[in-house]
Amino acid sequence: MREGVLGRARLYLSWQASSLGRYILEQFLFALVGWVPTVVGIGLRALLYRLILHMDGVAAIESGVRLRFASNIRLGNGVYLDQGVYLHACPNGIEIGEGTFVMHHAELHVYNFRNIPHSGIRIGRNCLISEFNVLRGQGGITIGDNVYTAPLVQMLAVDHVYDDPTRPIIEQGITAKGIVVEDNAWIGAGAIMLDGVRVGKGAVVGAGAVVTDDVPPHTVVAGVPAKVVKRIEGQATSARGVVYF
Ligand SMILES: CC(C)(COP(=O)(O)OP(=O)(O)OC[C@H]1O[C@@H](n2cnc3c(N)ncnc32)[C@H](O)[C@@H]1OP(=O)(O)O)[C@@H](O)C(=O)NCCC(=O)NCCS
Repeated sequence: MREGVLGRARLYLSWQASSLGRYILEQFLFALVGWVPTVVGIGLRALLYRLILHMDGVAAIESGVRLRFASNIRLGNGVYLDQGVYLHACPNGIEIGEGTFVMHHAELHVYNFRNIPHSGIRIGRNCLISEFNVLRGQGGITIGDNVYTAPLVQMLAVDHVYDDPTRPIIEQGITAKGIVVEDNAWIGAGAIMLDGVRVGKGAVVGAGAVVTDDVPPHTVVAGVPAKVVKRIEGQATSARGVVYF
């Protein structure tokens, strides 16, 4: 019984941080300053969180941001993590480039407990990862520069194997090829990107699309499954109203 409880505690800890010492340090800092509101809290976290994660320059981290395996997180200068953001960065980690904003309740998980060598999440510079996005990076997710995602986008770089009808699916393993989104792409609200796809440079994914195949650069795709509905060739896009900058 005691062994069982200890075993479960050990398992729990192995999902939270890279070692017991790191767990204690990280949880101590979260308890100390993770809750502090306002710009004062942002300042304290910019100062103290660099003890537990890699921070280039100054990153603004709001109160209530949850970080796991903080030692595998790298934040560029000017990164903004909104309230409720959750980064779980077990092996191979999460990198967020300079000037990128991750908005509230976005969840970025690597969840690699199977030693998948190419797992991880890399986001370039000046991107916006919008509200309630879910990124699962077991197979690796690479996002270029100047990429915007709308609310509720999901990027799922993992699939379950289900070929054997006599065994539970959860015992049949996973595949994880990875997802790439190239520079300047825009992903519409609620779009779902499945494992193995590449969204080309400057491409647009329509709201609600399910992307099952590569998206060529400078095209618009929409629907389920997503198909090319338009090529972006310099035609006027202002027919639907005034354009604001
Ligand atoms: C993809 C999108 C940008 C295309 O806008 P657009 O350039 O004005 O394109 P059009 O409206 O001319 O659509 C072209 C065709 O694709 C279809 N289409 C457009 N968006 C679609 C969508 N999300 N799902 C299914 N079909 C769609 C149109 O019905 C049209 O089909 P038709 O030629 O048979 O009439 C837009 O429809 C969209 O989905 N925007 C995302 C909005 C969003 O997420 N906003 C949050 C901001 S961060």
